[in-house]
Amino acid sequence: AIDIAKLRDITGYITLDDGYGNTGSCRSAITYIDGDAGILRYRGIPIEDIAGRSSFVETAWLVIFGELPNVEQRDHFAGLLSESAMIDEVMRKHFNAFPQTAPPMAILSAMINTLSAHDAGVTDIRDDADMERAAAVLISKVRTIAAAAYKASIGEPLVYPRYDLKYAENFLHMMFSVPYRQYEATPEVAAALNLFLMLHADHEQNCSTSTVRMVGSSKANLFASCAAGVCALWGPLHGGANVAAVQMLQQIHDSGMPVDEFVRKVKNKDDGVKLMGFGHRVYKNFDPRSRILKKAVDDVLAQLEKTDPLLDIARELETAALEDDYFVDRKLYPNVDFYSGILLRAIGIPLEMFTVMFAIGRMPGWIANWKEINEDPKGRIYRPRQVYVGPTDVKWRPRDER
Ligand code: ACO
Repeated sequence: AIDIAKLRDITGYITLDDGYGNTGSCRSAITYIDGDAGILRYRGIPIEDIAGRSSFVETAWLVIFGELPNVEQRDHFAGLLSESAMIDEVMRKHFNAFPQTAPPMAILSAMINTLSAHDAGVTDIRDDADMERAAAVLISKVRTIAAAAYKASIGEPLVYPRYDLKYAENFLHMMFSVPYRQYEATPEVAAALNLFLMLHADHEQNCSTSTVRMVGSSKANLFASCAAGVCALWGPLHGGANVAAVQMLQQIHDSGMPVDEFVRKVKNKDDGVKLMGFGHRVYKNFDPRSRILKKAVDDVLAQLEKTDPLLDIARELETAALEDDYFVDRKLYPNVDFYSGILLRAIGIPLEMFTVMFAIGRMPGWIANWKEINEDPKGRIYRPRQVYVGPTDVKWRPRDER
């Protein structure tokens, strides 16, 4: 086998791979994807089995620690999550300092970084018990921060977590309770949120996870590394696509534009318009998460006795795209973001919180990847090379001669 690290010394060349389309950055035992076959497995377990049977808390433990927890492990982790739900009271002042119009992703990343100050002790990780506590602190508090950011954005008082509620129910309580009315999530709504979070728990070396590993490789702490992951997730080509997909459906709906006409615009690349929620670097077949979500939105809307005109448009778009050579030739299929927004709408999550929801769901994957980096005794700092294309011999000109 060729030692890639030595290749440059031997040949004098480096590899250039735009967007890392064919570059493996690490060895990882967390998530397996076969993009041609449309397969996704967490720690070897098919996503379809997890989605149908597990909960977000159990899935988080699986992703981070490598196997399904037994009852005692699960209860212990759930207990840590419950007791970590409160954020330091002083952090309220940080929320007050953001303008009301601040994007929730900006608040989320800043506040996760702030945890490095308020929960500094937790970042000193020496063994599995420390790791479990740090993971619980982050997974639990990110939900409190997210709900508080939402409350701040609508000018309502922050709602304290309740210790008798499970993970999803507690988040929905902090989002939707008001001083004069406690919000109680129905089992259907809690199950839908659990499903959303489980489907987002990990997805190997995507942009945000690679960012977390990149930052973690410098030995930056868990909170700082995951705050960087939030920033990477924000963009519309990554996690922000769940907002962009719903905005696209809404625009088609509001303008009354026939779906075929929109598809024509995409194919002509008019103004760079894309079919948001379609295409994927790794999947050249159906993203299995989109199949699960497509069915789930039907079930959830039926259970909640709701309808959503955007779902009809999404279905029409999918059918039109799957029959069109442009999409077929490029192997563009629905990804996780195509239907996830409709599920979030059904459970009452406002559009501006969609990417934040993705970040809450992805937290176990980021933590597991950070853990993998942190535990690798041979781990080197991530430091890609470049091909320099700028000028090499430019004379300095004094300021008055420019
Ligand atoms: N709509 C229209 N055309 C598309 C789309 C799309 N959604 N996605 C890719 N294409 C086209 C490209 O224009 C390109 O066409 P060309 O060969 O004529 O130049 C071809 O398909 C290949 O696309 P690339 O941009 O090279 O694919 P890449 O792997 O770099 O990008 C990405 C993948 C970013 C997901 C892309 O498909 C995209 O922008 N999709 C829309 C945004 C989206 O849904 N992002 C979420 C991804 S999943 C996630 O992060 C959770």
